[in-house]
Amino acid sequence: EAYSKRKVWLDHDFQSTMPRREPYSHKGNHGRGLIVGGSTRMPGSISMSVKAALKAGAGLVTAGTSKEIFHTIVSYCPEAMCVPLPEKDGYLTHSHTLKLDKYNCVAVGIGLGRHNDTTELVKSLIKSAPCPIIIDADGLYHLKNNLSNLKERTYPTIITPHPGEMAMLLDVTIPEILQFPFHYSSVFAKAHNVFVILKGKHTIITAPDGRQYINNTGNQGLAKGGSGDVLTGIVLSMVMQKQELFQALCNACYLHGKAADLMIRDTHSYYDLLATDVIDGIPKVYRTFS
Ligand code: APR
Ligand code: MG
Repeated sequence: EAYSKRKVWLDHDFQSTMPRREPYSHKGNHGRGLIVGGSTRMPGSISMSVKAALKAGAGLVTAGTSKEIFHTIVSYCPEAMCVPLPEKDGYLTHSHTLKLDKYNCVAVGIGLGRHNDTTELVKSLIKSAPCPIIIDADGLYHLKNNLSNLKERTYPTIITPHPGEMAMLLDVTIPEILQFPFHYSSVFAKAHNVFVILKGKHTIITAPDGRQYINNTGNQGLAKGGSGDVLTGIVLSMVMQKQELFQALCNACYLHGKAADLMIRDTHSYYDLLATDVIDGIPKVYRTFS
């Protein structure tokens, strides 16, 4: 019975479900996204998430981060917008003035660090974001002791853990996650009413009702810091396109892995592929649309 709910997300699924760009569309149709993250010691990761989101098709992307790293973000991606957040010791803290109602999706956690005072920021976003929220990386660390807040959300929540982060959230070991990845994803998704993207060689996407898809695109060239940050940006973008949410998550994982696969096929190797190269692989995937 459980197995009948599991399917592999295929080339055909991506090709047939991805919304095409309308000739009369404007940037507002393609989503306004906010990415909260970054810290003085990790200014690069949020830059990659922002650029990946725009490259994947988001209409407008704003980085919510420390003023100190605005220049890093904009020099890598001039299309980015920035909103300053307060900070302490180089880490972001809760803002009383941040307006969330103008965004169609929020992502939090990338390059955030684990300062105690950052937890309140993550908590308040989970509580008040009037749109889907994606929680990744250190955002999951801050979520750990506030899991009960997830049930109160009226909009969807998406988490994107690697096996280590999934193990941390569930208080089990990494080998246990690797042995029963479908089981643990589904336990967590159902218990907390969230979508779970459990990353790995085969990424498992689980809906709160227990439906599961498997993404098989991607390769060992992605086993390098920053790959996950690129995925988060792509997920943000996909969530804002006009498609069913579960499909959007599958398409995001597919696009991320396929971009890496096409870079390896054409110009790169497993050794030298960088997360920024994966962003450059996105057009190769989109150009396969008929
Ligand atoms: N084959 C296919 N895909 C892979 C492989 C592989 N061998 N290795 C990694 N990937 C993919 C994963 O599926 C996932 O999409 O690359 C991505 C890696 O994501 P993360 O594990 O989050 O890696 P990273 O970018 O380094 O994360 C950055 O966030 O998770 C924290 O501790 C991490 O601080 C670091 C930051
Ligand atoms: Mg990561």
